[in-house]
Amino acid sequence: MALDLFSPVKLGSILLNNRMVMAPLTRNRSSETGVPQAMNVTYYEQRATAGLIITEATPISAMAHGYPALPGIYSGEQVVGWRKVTDAVHAKGSKIVLQLWHVGRISHPSLLPNGALPVAPSAIKPAGKAFTYEGLVDYVTPRALDASELPELIKDYAHATQCALDAGFDGVEIHAANGYLLDQFLRDGSNKRTDNYGGSFENRTRLLLEVTEAVVAVAGADKVGLRLSPANPFNDMHDSHPQSLFNYVVTALNPFNLAYLHIVEGGIHGGGEAAPFDFSELRALYQHSYMANLGFNKQTGNAAIAAGEADCIAFGVPFIANPDLVERYKTDAALNEADSTTFYGGNEKGYIDYPTL
Ligand code: PHB
Repeated sequence: MALDLFSPVKLGSILLNNRMVMAPLTRNRSSETGVPQAMNVTYYEQRATAGLIITEATPISAMAHGYPALPGIYSGEQVVGWRKVTDAVHAKGSKIVLQLWHVGRISHPSLLPNGALPVAPSAIKPAGKAFTYEGLVDYVTPRALDASELPELIKDYAHATQCALDAGFDGVEIHAANGYLLDQFLRDGSNKRTDNYGGSFENRTRLLLEVTEAVVAVAGADKVGLRLSPANPFNDMHDSHPQSLFNYVVTALNPFNLAYLHIVEGGIHGGGEAAPFDFSELRALYQHSYMANLGFNKQTGNAAIAAGEADCIAFGVPFIANPDLVERYKTDAALNEADSTTFYGGNEKGYIDYPTL
């Protein structure tokens, strides 16, 4: 029988009951100190029929924050909060990995320790507005990281990885997508450095590979996934040669034999026109498990898996509105409509009150 969304799969050491993955989704409903709350536990538990849950993007340090009410993964209190989430998800038979995040320039002093400037590969202010506790405000010009600061940054990734393991996660996903710090280093619209971390593909990929090496040293490659968004213009991102850059990146990631590579196959958040990009080239170059994301439904997801174009599919918005998405797809049931006004911030409404079948 052909493989489909309901076939089990092993990603590294993580055995999934099915190939429907809940994509990472920012929901801005943790405490101000980044501790997951009771409603966050309920939210993930409700969705624990997904083969795998990827948590919302989670800052690895106080300097990694860029939006209100994000959960963190660097303090003991946060580990205790997340442990309740992983216990609840495991009790329902699902698996869960934590997405490791540093936002880089997509932040604001009001969200950072002592009003610090956001950090970035280069001091280039992104177009657009920061989402702060006081509402939308202009971005500021970030401070370019000095190369001498990068070892400490890499240690923050390693520390956060250990925190995630201590919290009971099945693994971690390195967030290198959507215009946040690691993506800012990759693409030449945001990276104008003249040192070993800028210029050539090799140099712009260096930080990503160093972070990956550090995370793998803590968790083991079979518990580490990584997410890229080669064509996504969101957060004022662009690159002069996206196809050859990301073909290079994916080829450089092959030797790690990670649990999976997760690709956002397009542009998100109406951030503009996605760059022309042939994702089949990435799939052909990448030698391990490939997770595809963006705009899939049951039919297109099944088709991609049956054709061997992806090993699993990450669904975002459908999982917000349908905690029992797996059951609904299995039975061809109608889907709940997502209410985008409750995506970011707020309370239980639009978070844990979507009905199941
Ligand atoms: C968002 O909060 O809009 C957001 C966060 C993380 C992403 C993409 C978008 O990767």
